[in-house]
Amino acid sequence: MSDVDIRQIGGRIGAEVTGVDLSRELPDQLVTQLRQALLDHKVLFFRNQDITDEEQLTFAGHFGPLTDVHPMMRTVEDKPQVITVDGEDQRANHWHTDISFTTRPSLGTTLRAVILPPYGGDTMVANGAAGYRDLPAELREIADRLWAVHTNRAEQPRLGTERGDEVRRKFMAEKFEAAHPVVRVHPESGEPALFLGGFAQRLVGMTLRESRPIIDVLQSYVRRPENVARWTWRPGDVLIFDNRNTQHYAVNDYDGHKRLLNRVSITGDVPVGLDGRRSYVVEEDE
Ligand SMILES: [Fe+2]
Repeated sequence: MSDVDIRQIGGRIGAEVTGVDLSRELPDQLVTQLRQALLDHKVLFFRNQDITDEEQLTFAGHFGPLTDVHPMMRTVEDKPQVITVDGEDQRANHWHTDISFTTRPSLGTTLRAVILPPYGGDTMVANGAAGYRDLPAELREIADRLWAVHTNRAEQPRLGTERGDEVRRKFMAEKFEAAHPVVRVHPESGEPALFLGGFAQRLVGMTLRESRPIIDVLQSYVRRPENVARWTWRPGDVLIFDNRNTQHYAVNDYDGHKRLLNRVSITGDVPVGLDGRRSYVVEEDE
């Protein structure tokens, strides 16, 4: 037996994995164990790793086929599958689910510390399934019937720099819109979860104005501190979260310091709601 240990960091989300060297080839049995742990805990953290981009690609590949290229984010030279998460380009200090403005949001995302600020810049990950369970029955019945339009043109934080404005413009240049069930059934665990986040702009059949307070109240259950894991980065850290039932938030409290993470995402499937209907591309304004 190996000395792998998977230790919960909270009651509802997150576990730290120790005794694993991600620069080595991982035996099949360990890969199975990690995949199960990702389903159980939704985000896994690894400290003290020393891995290259190649090794991060290999690690992410154990969870599914890699996302070839992000529709609009900057990537590492000659490695289109490695996205540069750079605080000078943008700071994702809003709750979101990666590329939920497409019909195939990522299965999961891996992040690796490259350059860390001297303080701040934590990553928070929230459990959408726990948020769903926390809903009072009356509210849950409403959520069960709702669909939401997710778009890359939803309100997003501004950096207030020339470079930030340029990146933001690029991010929004081509319009992406997808409608997803507000309650998504996890394809592997069958667990229902609130599937919203910052790209969820409006509810199908409602105006922006009508949608906002309803989205906000549902989001408030996902963001409860009990449902959130908060990770303070150290050099050598690697994480992976299940993007199918979580949202994440990059805390923007590191002032003008440099923060650079490399991200590799895994291709996801088309979300399915409680009634079996699948997400679809929104062609026209609904
Ligand atoms: Fe993200």
